Amino acid sequence: MLGDGETLIKNPIALDFDFVPKELSYRDNELALLVSCIKPLLSNINGKNLLMFGKPGIGKTVVIKHLFNELSDETSTVVPLYINCWQKNTTYKVMVELCELIGYKFTHNKNTEELFSVIKRYLNKGAVVIAFDEIDKVEDLDFLYMLLEGLYRKTIFLITNYKEWLLKLDERIRSRLTLQMQEFKEYNYDQIKGILIKRINAAFVPEVWEDDAIIAVVDKAAKHKDLRVGLNLLKESADNAEGEAKRKVTKAHVERAIAGLDEQKIQKN
Ligand SMILES: Nc1ncnc2c1ncn2[C@@H]1O[C@H](COP(=O)(O)OP(=O)(O)O)[C@@H](O)[C@H]1O
Ligand SMILES: [Mg+2]
Repeated sequence: MLGDGETLIKNPIALDFDFVPKELSYRDNELALLVSCIKPLLSNINGKNLLMFGKPGIGKTVVIKHLFNELSDETSTVVPLYINCWQKNTTYKVMVELCELIGYKFTHNKNTEELFSVIKRYLNKGAVVIAFDEIDKVEDLDFLYMLLEGLYRKTIFLITNYKEWLLKLDERIRSRLTLQMQEFKEYNYDQIKGILIKRINAAFVPEVWEDDAIIAVVDKAAKHKDLRVGLNLLKESADNAEGEAKRKVTKAHVERAIAGLDEQKIQKN
């Protein structure tokens, strides 16, 4: 039995959806293409723009965040800026966010144009790579025009679950963007297993998970082809085990977590 104050989890952050592991598996090709889009920026020329697309829960966001972490560690020549358009869904909100990301605080009482002047002044000193995640959630695309026209050396990454979003884009902006495309394919069973086992090792005290419990989680995540389902089950199953003050997470704990999964929510995802 677990003692008082004892826990099965040593690092709860590693189970969060937005956790960025130090090592990323299975996405070397995708990363290489992203790097090739940024490379020109290091030689003082304009970068390339890229649309990343693919189903939810298959590593699009984590690849960008991983790349941006590495970039910040390795160079200050190229400034990486990440924006989630689900939260920042208008040109004004994007401009305010860009100001905050570059450390400019006096955004109150400034309109979009004024904010953009600040951004240009700051970012045109060097090179910038901006990622707009969930780009399909934006209400207007004026900010893209403005950035494409106003910034000298930049790479723009657009990320979406819906490739069809591109078809709705105005021809003018499409030709100005000249997007390369990178499809993210679903992970296969072994890849899902590999990723989830690494997460278990990062998050849990050693030897906590029984083998058939792990397999039950992997089976379910693989069926949905979505790592978030797997991460959810890791958390919920461990809660079930801790609730019984058990030192091991068993298949029965996972089965109970699966029974509690909100199937509708998963499908909508
Ligand atoms: N190759 C990978 N290595 C490690 N973790 C990964 C990998 N791909 C995805 N993940 C994890 O799976 C979860 C879902 O990935 P995410 O990037 O949010 O998916 P998407 O943006 O495609 O919806 C995240 O918690 C992420 O850390
Ligand atoms: Mg994402």
